[in-house]
Amino acid sequence: MTSTRRLGTRQITPIGLGCMQFAGRGVNLYPPVPQEEVQAIVAAALKGGITWFDTAEMYGGGGSERALTTALHNLGVRPGEVLVASKWTPFGRTARSIEKTAPQRVAALQGYPLDLHQIHAPGGSFSSLARQVDAMARLYRAGTIGGVGVSNFGAAAMERAHALLAAQGVPLVSNQVQISLLHRSVERDGVLTAARRLDVTLIASSPLRSGALTGKFHDNPGSTASLRGMRRLLGGRYGYSRRALDRTRPLIDELRAVAVVHGATPTQVALAWLVGYYGDTVVAIPGASKVRHAEEAAAAVDLALSGRELETLAEVSTRVLRG
Ligand SMILES: NC(=O)c1ccc[n+]([C@@H]2O[C@H](COP(=O)([O-])OP(=O)(O)OC[C@H]3O[C@@H](n4cnc5c(N)ncnc54)[C@H](OP(=O)(O)O)[C@@H]3O)[C@@H](O)[C@H]2O)c1
Repeated sequence: MTSTRRLGTRQITPIGLGCMQFAGRGVNLYPPVPQEEVQAIVAAALKGGITWFDTAEMYGGGGSERALTTALHNLGVRPGEVLVASKWTPFGRTARSIEKTAPQRVAALQGYPLDLHQIHAPGGSFSSLARQVDAMARLYRAGTIGGVGVSNFGAAAMERAHALLAAQGVPLVSNQVQISLLHRSVERDGVLTAARRLDVTLIASSPLRSGALTGKFHDNPGSTASLRGMRRLLGGRYGYSRRALDRTRPLIDELRAVAVVHGATPTQVALAWLVGYYGDTVVAIPGASKVRHAEEAAAAVDLALSGRELETLAEVSTRVLRG
């Protein structure tokens, strides 16, 4: 039976579906996914047991939110049957735009509740964090949103957001930050410790390091040439260059070795590590541009790695990250 995790007052699968890939032309990281394919991906995620979806205003200015909820609607999913998380874009805006754009978010979600609304980044707004948090708290009290989250917040900013909300009796549900076997800064920068202390769920973005942990680029380095420039740039030291692939290959080899034992794929082992190694604090939102990706992600929920496998993967990852 699939286990669940708590997100605020809701229960969710440890793995949800990241929906940046559904942004249309709005995000420069991934090519557009046609709506029929979006629907097939969402159908595969639901069939595999996934109960929640992460999107954002920034992903195509509402394009991802609309693509996701159009698919949910066409698939006969009733509002409230799944959890939908979105994000407010702070860049170049004041906190006033949180409430001003909330009706746009609600419209883009086409009847599906905005169960979790996240401040997409700690910087970039002209307003103080206190004002941003106040606006979110008002939306929460008005019932427009089901919970308040933040994203890309360091430990100090997360603690402050938590304290500002707590003073108004509003819980901080989550902090969405990059975590994977190739990105483990939460262990050093205080975010993991603070999240555990404050009972804040960490939602791991880019849990496959944007595909680098799947092993497909190691198998076929030439395929990285077709990746969009921004994605290649963000890949950096552990991304897609020949050197980067050589650097991370020992980790892919270990993922493969564990995958063989379980009859699984390296992708599934990487996801199972993420939601196993950190206990209940971390949930993950892999993105999918193909049906197979969503099928693999959903099935990874049922893959339980042994303590020894979790530790060995962590050790190999540490060596790669230090190398
Ligand atoms: N809060 C933030 O600032 C922030 C930042 C980044 C992401 N996010 C969220 O996190 C989600 C996930 O991040 P992400 O999409 O950047 O990275 P990711 O989940 O680490 O990687 C997704 C990509 O990996 C490849 N992939 C996935 N499953 C695969 C499989 N089974 N086999 C082979 N390849 C597979 C696909 O690449 P191809 O499409 O090339 O095949 C897919 O697009 C996003 O959708 C978004 O919701 C949030």
